[in-house]
Amino acid sequence: MKVGIIGSGGREHAICTFLRKSQKVEEIYCFPGNAGTDQIAKNIKIDLDDFEKLSEFIKTNKIDIVIVGPEKPLVMGIVDEFEKKGIKVFGPNKAASQLEGSKIFTKKLCKNYNIPTAEFGIFAEIETASNFLRKSKFPLVVKADGLAAGKGVYICNNDKEAMNAINEIFNGKFGKAKEVLIEEFLDGEEMSFFIISDGRDYKIFGTAQDHKKVFEGDKGKNTGGMGAYTPSRLENAVLNNKIIGKIIEPTFKALKEFKISFKGFLYAGLMIKNNEPFLIEYNVRMGDPECQTILPQLRTDLAEIFESCVNENLKLTEIKWSNKKTICIVLCSKGYPDEYKKNLEIKNLENISLRDNEYIFHAGTIKKNNIFYSNGGRVLNFVISSDDLKLAREKAINIINQINWKYGFFRNDIGYKIIDK
Ligand code: AMP
Ligand code: GLY
Repeated sequence: MKVGIIGSGGREHAICTFLRKSQKVEEIYCFPGNAGTDQIAKNIKIDLDDFEKLSEFIKTNKIDIVIVGPEKPLVMGIVDEFEKKGIKVFGPNKAASQLEGSKIFTKKLCKNYNIPTAEFGIFAEIETASNFLRKSKFPLVVKADGLAAGKGVYICNNDKEAMNAINEIFNGKFGKAKEVLIEEFLDGEEMSFFIISDGRDYKIFGTAQDHKKVFEGDKGKNTGGMGAYTPSRLENAVLNNKIIGKIIEPTFKALKEFKISFKGFLYAGLMIKNNEPFLIEYNVRMGDPECQTILPQLRTDLAEIFESCVNENLKLTEIKWSNKKTICIVLCSKGYPDEYKKNLEIKNLENISLRDNEYIFHAGTIKKNNIFYSNGGRVLNFVISSDDLKLAREKAINIINQINWKYGFFRNDIGYKIIDK
């Protein structure tokens, strides 16, 4: 079959890599892809906001299934548009994507269905929000409602920081804001928990631990993710059952009552506190870099899994996993997540020879005249699967050092809570 992939990050290069390994897949088109996907698929430059043009290309080229990687097109309704045109697509529709597109939608759902989450208040005016702050304990968390590319969350240690966050949100820093969300700060350890669904049934699709802070020891600003490992050190059967019973099941029940079907990946961002799970947020896609760590663990044909989802028979597909562990370290451009330069040459990539269970997934890269350049903040992902995470991390760092990209930086301590114990 012919497959299309929407997106251009490390997550999409990983999806492309594992689809390429499938006997079922003849051709892959990436919209727009990156320098990594360019080596194994056809990169097609079409504006991702232009659903009409994308549909036209997909129909003309008889692409059988389209996989949507990032949240923005999902929240904007790309799936609804494609399905209207008779295109088979893996990803949630616009209504289901509110789970990520509106934090307030999700918080209300949690409240109505008794899903454990941080206590919260929703405020439509600066004044009522500031009155609430006067009575609150700190730290607390202020959030913008809609998509904010990971930037609309403020952890506030005092009244002044919280007022600043509220003002920035109402002043339109993340687009027009009707309301602001104020949450209790949850103290615990985070875990990314993944589900795959065909709209009828769902299955667990792995767990991982992301490292969101830019500097070692989880210091500095939040990023899209500096590295991850799988499975999460917190994972066990008892906790999995709690997550399914207290969070996932009631969410699917709510969606069913709203007559919303959910097809695609559901990513629960959890805080685990005294072995109890709390939902921090939902995403309606795979995590990045979590996806790059989870897919190498898969022992079932990825194309078969996507196919069974779009045909609504996931129940018949057994998803098998390896017993190994996988780590991903992200090489970033200096300055990220603030200002950083683009178009910086990356030498030495061609000289690296990878063995089994070793991968380099491109994120923000482009190739011009056979030379690789950076094209974003998170540039390359170094992924190693092994029986031993410590060894995996050493190997990943060794490869990064071979590339020796002078414009880059990375965290040496990915997985420190499990490796350096
Ligand atoms: P989000 O975009 O909602 O995932 O938030 C980004 C990050 O902020 C999360 O990964 C957490 O590290 C942190 N965060 C968000 N909400 C809370 C909360 N209620 N308590 C503690 N940390 C939080
Ligand atoms: N790694 C976090 C995310 O994908 O949102």
